[in-house]
Amino acid sequence: MNLNCMGQFPEYRPRRLRQFPALRRMISETRLSADQLVLPLFARAGRKLRKPINAMPGVFQLSLDELLREATQAFEAGVPAVLLFGIPEKKDAKASGAYASNGIVQQAVRLLKKELPELLIITDVCLCEYMAHGHCGIVHHSKNRTRILNDPTLKLLARSAASHAEAGADIIAPSDMMDGRIQAIRTELDRLGFDETPIMSYAAKFASAFYGPFREAAESAPQFGDRRSYQMDAGNTNEALREVALDIQEGADMVMVKPALAYLDILHRVKTEFGYPTAAYAVSGEYSMIKAAAANGWVDEKAVTLESLLAMRRAGADIIITYSATDAARWLREK
Ligand code: PBG
Repeated sequence: MNLNCMGQFPEYRPRRLRQFPALRRMISETRLSADQLVLPLFARAGRKLRKPINAMPGVFQLSLDELLREATQAFEAGVPAVLLFGIPEKKDAKASGAYASNGIVQQAVRLLKKELPELLIITDVCLCEYMAHGHCGIVHHSKNRTRILNDPTLKLLARSAASHAEAGADIIAPSDMMDGRIQAIRTELDRLGFDETPIMSYAAKFASAFYGPFREAAESAPQFGDRRSYQMDAGNTNEALREVALDIQEGADMVMVKPALAYLDILHRVKTEFGYPTAAYAVSGEYSMIKAAAANGWVDEKAVTLESLLAMRRAGADIIITYSATDAARWLREK
């Protein structure tokens, strides 16, 4: 922008254009639309089950009948896509539930594609919900060190992604942060004939305390240690750009920055440097903070939620994953 040619007070008065609602809307630079929202959903076995997540009011672990209900409401409100997570009946050391052809996510995908064929189904590909130890990869213990093994984990991730595609998933979203996973997944999908299935990679995913409530929701808290050997350090920007570059080179069709609100600078850099379709994930802790403050009457939930989502759009997000998607879509329609 050339600020030299800008007028000065008293000739230039920005407030002139703020006088009328219609005029403010006309010159609004950023728009938020329901078309850009994705609703995360948690599937688990059972019937008529809506298990509340303590720290996320309004979010539940859902049996498939209830999941369909929730997805239908989102779709009818104008939300075009859901992101599926699964809570398996049993966890083990090789995450069998992640790639079982009759696993909970695979069942959910088949049901939703059958009942709501126009709703886009995105599946989160990760192992932490399915591993007894809660880590996103295979754990190897030696005398004085515990490691998460990278390359052996890739095979399980590729297998999980393939099982989601086989069930009918429209978009695959790997969230594990192992090196090389996009390449491994792309290669496996192509080999099986799913060369048209897009990958939305959680490319710049930070090791964040804002995921706290999610780990209750997905029952995926690590049983020892933390995720810092695979998720990114909160202070790093250049590394985030390298992560995104790698994922694009490996075949990601869309990239994601996560969390969103505390990482808007990263989002902006990623969008301006690469110009790829970019998603922001407004994570569980972001949702919980707004809910808690709103429950106390300290903030206006609707206004604060829409303002945060708009900020993500302004920073560069094309797509926003948010637990408030259905509410936000309804609020946007009222407007
Ligand atoms: C799985 C995964 C996590 C989230 C999305 N996928 C948890 C984590 O990495 O610990 C977090 C989502 C949220 O907090 O809303 N790896």
